[in-house]
Amino acid sequence: MTANSSIAPVIVSSENGRQGAEKAMQILRSGGSALEAVEAACRVVEDNPDDHTVGFGGMPNVLGQVELDASIMDGRDLRAGAVGAVHGYGNAITLARHVMEQSPHVLLVDQGAERFAAEMNVRPQEQLTFEALNRWQQRFVEAGLTLTSEPLHVLAARLTGPMGLRDQKDDSTDPAVSYHGTVNFLALDQDGNLASAVSTSGLAWKYPGRIGDSPVIGAGNYCDNRYGAAACTGMGELSMRVCTARSLVLYMKMGMSLHDAGMEALRDLAYLSPPPRQYMNIVALSPTGEHGGFSTVPGKKYLYMTGDMEAPTLEERSVLA
Ligand code: GLY
Repeated sequence: MTANSSIAPVIVSSENGRQGAEKAMQILRSGGSALEAVEAACRVVEDNPDDHTVGFGGMPNVLGQVELDASIMDGRDLRAGAVGAVHGYGNAITLARHVMEQSPHVLLVDQGAERFAAEMNVRPQEQLTFEALNRWQQRFVEAGLTLTSEPLHVLAARLTGPMGLRDQKDDSTDPAVSYHGTVNFLALDQDGNLASAVSTSGLAWKYPGRIGDSPVIGAGNYCDNRYGAAACTGMGELSMRVCTARSLVLYMKMGMSLHDAGMEALRDLAYLSPPPRQYMNIVALSPTGEHGGFSTVPGKKYLYMTGDMEAPTLEERSVLA
């Protein structure tokens, strides 16, 4: 099909994806693929040093090192690629796409992923900004801790708290102060193809090597042209335990509406009885362009934009009654 096709393009994202969503819609409107759109959208957010939850400028782990996770999935053939705990390279989403397209694997982590990036001729780039470094140092001061004052796992737990952020700012939606975010994009292109992408620097002050749901296909990201796409943001340890993204798409495969499938995925998460400040957000998109957002806590929003809209719009996420 061509750019004149009758299928109207749609982009759905987490709340911090506005600029990326605009970029993605430009690509979709000009007949670009959903896969191309979600990768380009993620790159916009990854390159933004003011978003401290993704890519360049992301908050570091307990040792002060930025570790990036990302995944991408193509709804046409269920190919997927992902990287985890990558140091010293930016645009983790593009590394994930390289894994999908240039290797027989789905997930590469840490030194293996970095070695692979070098083999793909990706230029190394330090991801820790001065601002993020200062915030890491300040976090130790606030907590009255030093790098050697506790075993590392105790230190990481004390610094991150229940959601990997500073206690007094856990309700902020400002990416400059909210340190537990992730960005995700789901796209439907004019050919009727779906794609999904997720990128994150993970929990601030996390234990080195901690990987969340974002690069785990089925947990933080899933996409199938036949049934739909879903992706998560929030405390990855929750969606990893109930395979949230895959479950939601599977519920649609089994005949549920997008809304009912999202609510069922929320019931799966509720069964985990998460502590009050751990939450999970989900976005979903159907092959016909229906979209929805869901959250384990009230007041959360997601963004969507269709081909006939001038700008992305915020929409409330559904919660369990
Ligand atoms: N959802 C992102 C993470 O838990 O790392």
